[in-house]
Amino acid sequence: MKESSVKILVRVFTLLSILLVILLLYHHGQTSRITEVQEVIGLEDVPIREAPVDETINPFDTWWKNYRKSDEFGDVFKWNHYFDIYHRHFARFRNKEMTMLEIGVRNGGSLKMWRDYFGPGLQIYGLDIKPNTKRFENKLERVKILIGDQGNATFWTEALKTLPKFDIVIDDGGHTMKQLKVTFDHLYDHVKPDGGIYLVEDLHTAYWRGFKGGYKRQGTFIEYTKDLIDQLNADHSKDENLKVTKFTRSTQSMHVYDSIVVFEKSPHPKYYQIMSQ
Ligand SMILES: C[S@@+](CC[C@H](N)C(=O)[O-])C[C@H]1O[C@@H](n2cnc3c(N)ncnc32)[C@H](O)[C@@H]1O
Repeated sequence: MKESSVKILVRVFTLLSILLVILLLYHHGQTSRITEVQEVIGLEDVPIREAPVDETINPFDTWWKNYRKSDEFGDVFKWNHYFDIYHRHFARFRNKEMTMLEIGVRNGGSLKMWRDYFGPGLQIYGLDIKPNTKRFENKLERVKILIGDQGNATFWTEALKTLPKFDIVIDDGGHTMKQLKVTFDHLYDHVKPDGGIYLVEDLHTAYWRGFKGGYKRQGTFIEYTKDLIDQLNADHSKDENLKVTKFTRSTQSMHVYDSIVVFEKSPHPKYYQIMSQ
């Protein structure tokens, strides 16, 4: 090899080495900055994600596509727009220790869905009027099945003596107006006061005669929801017929969707107006 070629090779090698050192120093700087941030916010033990997770993917969609009913767990019975609502309100509970009650077990498929979505921290209770749903108790860990009639006030008074407070309650049971109201009246107080969720689904039955529903018909759960919206705003009422209630003080928000109402609980003080300087 000629002397000039050797010189060129040496220069290229030196340049590449310098570039490598610069890259290494830059990477080290970035890593220490991340560690500093972790220390400041007290998250030393929380791994920083290498790549951003695609938050636009709803895990329920993937679950639904892949799920096949089996001898162990049967089909799941939902409406197609429910999954966005679930994920919007439930995502913060995933992979945490939590308790949930689902009224309406049917073929057990939704119990499996909840376990797969929330993870092993979930302690789930299912309630159904049909005694044969008890068979699902042994199929997943941390699943308890209660047998009873959600429309029976005495059932709730007895059952609630032994049940823990729930992070999430889903009413997907018989869907008659009486069942919905009796259940809400007994269970709402049994939802955790700081961030708990009460979700009633299939509320189209509030418009169906067979379930004692009907447009603006007295006693439907949709009409009751309208009253509860008033109670949520009772601090601003000038009318003595609308007063602050326990519901006002314990409910942070209500979310009304097609067929679903979600109640989010947390202490609700009397708010006051503020004005910037
Ligand atoms: C719509 S299915 C539940 C579907 C299930 N959650 C799912 O997603 O696949 C309704 C269930 O509620 C139960 N049910 C009906 N009336 C009830 C009552 N009064 N008390 C408790 N459960 C009841 C039925 O036996 C049925 O299993």
